[in-house]
Amino acid sequence: MCGIVGYIGPREAYPILIKGLKRLEYRGYDSAGIALLNGDLRLYKNMGRVKELEASIVGQNVTGNVGIGHTRWATHGEPNNENAHPHFSQHKTLAMIHNGIIENYASLREEMQMRGHHFLSETDTEVLIHLIEDIQQNENVKLVEAVRIALNQVVGAYAIVILAKGDQDTLIAARKGSPLVVGIGDGEHFIASDATPLVEYTNQVVYLNDEEIAIIPRNGDMRIITIADQEKTPYIQQLEMNLSAIEKGGFDHFMMKEIFEQPLSIRDSMRGRLRVEQEKISLGGISEYEEKMAHAKRIIMVACGTSWHAALVGEYLFEDIARIPVEVEYGSEFRYRNPIINEDDIVIAISQSGETADTLAAIRMAKAKGATIIGICNVVGSSIARETHAGSYTHAGPEIGVASTKAFTAQVAVLTLMALRLAKKRGTIERSRFHHLLYELEQIPFKVEETLNVNEKVKQIAKTFINARNFLYLGRGYNFPVALEGALKLKEISYIHAEGYPAAEMKHGPIALIDKDMPVVVVATNKGTYEKVVSNIEEIRARKGVIIAIVTKGDTEVKRLADYIIEIPETEEMLVPLLATIPLQLLAYHIAVQRGCAVDMPRNLAKSVTVE
Ligand code: AGP
Repeated sequence: MCGIVGYIGPREAYPILIKGLKRLEYRGYDSAGIALLNGDLRLYKNMGRVKELEASIVGQNVTGNVGIGHTRWATHGEPNNENAHPHFSQHKTLAMIHNGIIENYASLREEMQMRGHHFLSETDTEVLIHLIEDIQQNENVKLVEAVRIALNQVVGAYAIVILAKGDQDTLIAARKGSPLVVGIGDGEHFIASDATPLVEYTNQVVYLNDEEIAIIPRNGDMRIITIADQEKTPYIQQLEMNLSAIEKGGFDHFMMKEIFEQPLSIRDSMRGRLRVEQEKISLGGISEYEEKMAHAKRIIMVACGTSWHAALVGEYLFEDIARIPVEVEYGSEFRYRNPIINEDDIVIAISQSGETADTLAAIRMAKAKGATIIGICNVVGSSIARETHAGSYTHAGPEIGVASTKAFTAQVAVLTLMALRLAKKRGTIERSRFHHLLYELEQIPFKVEETLNVNEKVKQIAKTFINARNFLYLGRGYNFPVALEGALKLKEISYIHAEGYPAAEMKHGPIALIDKDMPVVVVATNKGTYEKVVSNIEEIRARKGVIIAIVTKGDTEVKRLADYIIEIPETEEMLVPLLATIPLQLLAYHIAVQRGCAVDMPRNLAKSVTVE
């Protein structure tokens, strides 16, 4: 997610802004910028790190005791200098920084262009600040009123801070869906996207609520109004966090922070795309190629590691509901095995980093053979994203932990949206089922929140297994890729060997491994093949295997057979991977932590495998 800082008070703003942006670097970003006001409104920004921004400003005028700063995690428009924040309004009377996604920015942009506005960037942010100035000047209202009117026209999420050329004594901030916190100092105010940059200056903070606008003065108390123009009393809280903890949002590791971000990241992956009332799925990024996808004779999904597991879920989804043949390929195998690729093939490349060498090479080969390449990436403007014909970003925000968690569920969410949209287009799904699945999908972030409640129980279960030497993970159907992903999570952060298998395959060999020292994780939430999974569990039990079962809340049968039970909420079978994966992420995490492993930076691993 983007990082936001702002300052107004008696001190020079520049050092406070730069230090604040450095405190936010843990959030991940691709460009940085600041705006300062001291008579004239000056803006410095560039692609790259904060220290590069600092170097580029040396010798420039950095005076001013009011300013704003931003680290950008690209959502609209590639990482480059023009798309970096802050953004000026048309007449450069305003500068703004923004965290979030304005869903209706394209229509607003067209409207403004018809009124003669010229945009320098591809961002949704620049459209919003142009709109605000346009309202302020054409309706001759104060800035805060212009902000309020504009935000009533906006659909989506925002945390914004605005600096106005004519007003050295006020900052305007507003939020909906993206956090914003104001620090109350002694005759000074600080603003940030989280408390990290504030902790060293104050422990008195006000967290803005959705649809609130803050008028932050140089002297005196801040005011809050809503976008419905109601006055609100700021609720000042005591900040109880120390600096070191705060950089991981209060969690011990980035991986845990990212596991717990999944309600938000899944919501963000569907934001502006899932409209249950209108029974509609919008995937603008692939609209140009949707016809071709819907008529494809086959879809090849190419990925590595966790993304390959997401591709496997994608295969089950696309074949089950859109009835399109799918093949799933490891990038490293696909690129070298001289595969048959036809010009009417669709290749979907799935990659969190968008830089995985094997996946990149695989799509280059497929593209050269005439296939159409669709991307599902998390990093905007990454190499794979740039080399595809079209695609849909996962919008999961930066994933810092080497073990992929929120990126996986966001990939599965986007694949689910794609499969449903293609199923509707191809007429392979009944309207009532389509609507029901959209409704269920909308409920998933809430059910993920509920699933995260098993954390303490999983932590206790993990204690029993920190000295295990092997694990088996079993699942059927949609839960087979979940079993593979659970095994990979355990392997890569705890260094315990683990193997994922289709549950029925166990009797074709792995059952020889079962004894009292073999923990077996069984994902047993199936509806269609539930009885068969129960039989598999009985086979394990008969050989004294130790069974950890993931079951649907209220299950009684497996409860009777398993040694440990972890319950997840009920949902449609095809959506279970979005929930069942979470206890497996937590199990791997807690075992690794209790084994003293370097969870965020496991040995021998890199976050992005850019080499063969
Ligand atoms: C997953 O936890 C691993 N870090 C690794 O398998 C990863 O999924 C794989 O390297 C692919 O990375 P990508 O999604 O960035 O292409």
